[in-house]
Amino acid sequence: MNALLQPPPWRRAMALHDLDAVLAIEVRAYGWPWSRGNFIDTLAAGHVAEVLEDREAGVIGYFVAMTGVGELHLLNVTVAPEWQGQGHGSALLEAAVAHGLERGLAELWLEVRESNHHARALYARRGFAEVGLRRGYYPAAGRREDAVVMRLALTEGGPHALV
Ligand SMILES: CC(C)(COP(=O)(O)OP(=O)(O)OC[C@H]1O[C@@H](n2cnc3c(N)ncnc32)[C@H](O)[C@@H]1OP(=O)(O)O)[C@@H](O)C(=O)NCCC(=O)NCCS
Repeated sequence: MNALLQPPPWRRAMALHDLDAVLAIEVRAYGWPWSRGNFIDTLAAGHVAEVLEDREAGVIGYFVAMTGVGELHLLNVTVAPEWQGQGHGSALLEAAVAHGLERGLAELWLEVRESNHHARALYARRGFAEVGLRRGYYPAAGRREDAVVMRLALTEGGPHALV
């Protein structure tokens, strides 16, 4: 199909029938991926969970976020490796921001591996501020890795970093 006629990927709620496709991406995107049980728990808990779907390729990305008191916590945002670098991660981040704003939440929080410089740079460009470290938060080869805690203030006029 002519690329100009190709409709862009669209977002919709994640469902149980998506989990084979989601897990196929998850295990390629992470050294320590979420399990099927993690995703099932997420859906059962009613967390915000959406997939990004391409008409031909199917699911190409997703995010999961948990609502807290006055805040949304981004638990997982992932784009299939072959679809990265095309703006889909930014679109998923925007979708999470929109969910937070719709619910009247004041802040969006996330943790990211200290070594994940690509994701940290993406979040920083989007206005997130690095506000702390969780020591040994993630498993890593033969050790534990720290998480960088990042926070974004959500306002109707456009998100602003809280420092
Ligand atoms: C982090 C992630 C979700 C970003 O998704 P993405 O679709 O690649 O993001 P985008 O295409 O919107 O790119 C965002 C920015 O990174 C840049 N970029 C994309 N791929 C890049 C690469 N391989 N190296 C360096 N920069 C890159 C883009 O140019 C863009 O820059 P801009 O904001 O200045 O335009 C994706 O890389 C991913 O799933 N990574 C593995 C899982 C992961 O680490 N998730 C985050 C856990 S906290």
